[in-house]
Amino acid sequence: MKSLLTCLFALLIFQFSFGQDDQLPTDYLSKEFHKERRAALRQKMPKNSVAVLFANPVRNRANDVEYIYHQDPNFYYLTGYKEPHAVLLIFSENQTDGDTTYNEAIYVQEKDPRAEQWTGKRLGVTGVKEQLGFNKVFNGSEFSTATYDFEKFSKVLIVDFNDDYRDSGKNKADLYDLVQQFKEKAKYDKSLLSNPTTDRIYEVIKATGIENSANVAQDLGRYMDYYPELKEDELINGYHNAANDELRNEFKQKISLKLEAPPKTNIDISSLNDFMGDLREKKQPEEMKLLKKAVEISAIGQREIMKAMHPNMSEAEIQGVHEFVYKKYGAEYEGYPSIVGGGHNGCILHYIENSKTKVGNDLVLMDLGAEYRGYTADVTRTIPANGKFSTEQRAIYDIVYDAQEAGIALVKTGSTFAASHEATRKIVNAGLLKLGIIKTIDEKHNYYPHGSSHHIGLDVHDAGSQGEFKLDMVVTVEPGIYIPENSPCDKKWWGIAVRIEDDILVTEKGPVNLSAAAPRKADEIEKLMKETSVLNSFNLPKLDD
Ligand code: GLY
Ligand code: MN
Ligand code: MN
Repeated sequence: MKSLLTCLFALLIFQFSFGQDDQLPTDYLSKEFHKERRAALRQKMPKNSVAVLFANPVRNRANDVEYIYHQDPNFYYLTGYKEPHAVLLIFSENQTDGDTTYNEAIYVQEKDPRAEQWTGKRLGVTGVKEQLGFNKVFNGSEFSTATYDFEKFSKVLIVDFNDDYRDSGKNKADLYDLVQQFKEKAKYDKSLLSNPTTDRIYEVIKATGIENSANVAQDLGRYMDYYPELKEDELINGYHNAANDELRNEFKQKISLKLEAPPKTNIDISSLNDFMGDLREKKQPEEMKLLKKAVEISAIGQREIMKAMHPNMSEAEIQGVHEFVYKKYGAEYEGYPSIVGGGHNGCILHYIENSKTKVGNDLVLMDLGAEYRGYTADVTRTIPANGKFSTEQRAIYDIVYDAQEAGIALVKTGSTFAASHEATRKIVNAGLLKLGIIKTIDEKHNYYPHGSSHHIGLDVHDAGSQGEFKLDMVVTVEPGIYIPENSPCDKKWWGIAVRIEDDILVTEKGPVNLSAAAPRKADEIEKLMKETSVLNSFNLPKLDD
């Protein structure tokens, strides 16, 4: 009796401590959040439609090693499911099947103890029901025999496939198979799909009055350089090359007729992207908490490196300090490959090699962001490795700082992405002119070759429109000046690259800088760089050469 009791007690302790030992994070988005977001998507969907979303593919690194898996942000936003090989269906109205009624269904990875021993726990059907709050949940293998009549819907909304995933062969319900099965069921035929980029241009041409058509035709030229596939479109190309208003008008009439023609398929590859952008661009309170935390952690990373930086550091070591801080706070990943560029390397906008062994007396451009529970920051600081800006470094730095201040001031309701960008560009141009780096205020140059703002969220370049700023958006403001070797200016500027990037929340009271904890003013950076770092006493054994 005594030993039985002891055994039971031991079992209880074991179970209790097993639960305790799990020590998993508990601050993910809640199942109620995802459910409400699915309801919000349903509100946007046309009558009698279905949205079909797929999990991200698993990517192979080499041989039998895969890259770390990351869920598709739309899929995660709507489900909270972090595993691969899954498909989600959301119906605009209730569907009936015998005596069950449903408006959504999800097909997920099957539980498999052997596979889980190697690659980790799977939620399986029961876990998805209990933890993610879905009712109609199936194993992926059941999708092949599911009898959805996709042809009866007015629209089947999808994000088009890149078809860049492998058929694992072994797993009959991997993403490859799920997509193939969907394509067969829904009679997907790529040649019948309309092209969202082309359609958008058609709409612009349709809305353009004849008096403005020459300007629009000219602007199209630049657009066509970015999207060469537009040159293949006879109507767009014709409009662009038309010699006069009359000819342009003829193309406009043809385009209007084409837009009015009934679609050749009920599969729609543009609306779902737009709906998801509408939903994701304004952050809900639950998301805001996680996003703020990601930004706060990233700002602390910048502060710590400001204290630790010295000329003998390597770019990789600097990267390591940021990323160590992220992990220390429980952030799972970096939101994008970390960029640490000393001197000339800072001129490469997305420099991710981070291979320079000593940063010396150069400026170091550090563009990094922690990803916390799916939400990613995007913060850049540029600091002098030796703790003091040189005269030239400081001159460029201060222009970028002023440009950023002007850009941030316009991140408010009633203003636009374009207005904020224009404000930064004006200050950059005036500054470069004053320093003699450009010769006239409207000189075309390549010293500031990028936009200044994008949304952040589940993606570093998050979904959403780039028009007006709206409350609860979180966007970056990130002007920069980059002067590579052999630029047409005095040599003393060569190799100076500065970007300053902050994450700004749009509020009723105007812009709020969420990354403000990391100093931006040159004087404040120099002051913080004088402080002692805890890393000064982090000395490792010296290795033989
Ligand atoms: N870190 C990429 C960007 O700033 O957009
Ligand atoms: Mn950015
Ligand atoms: Mn960035």
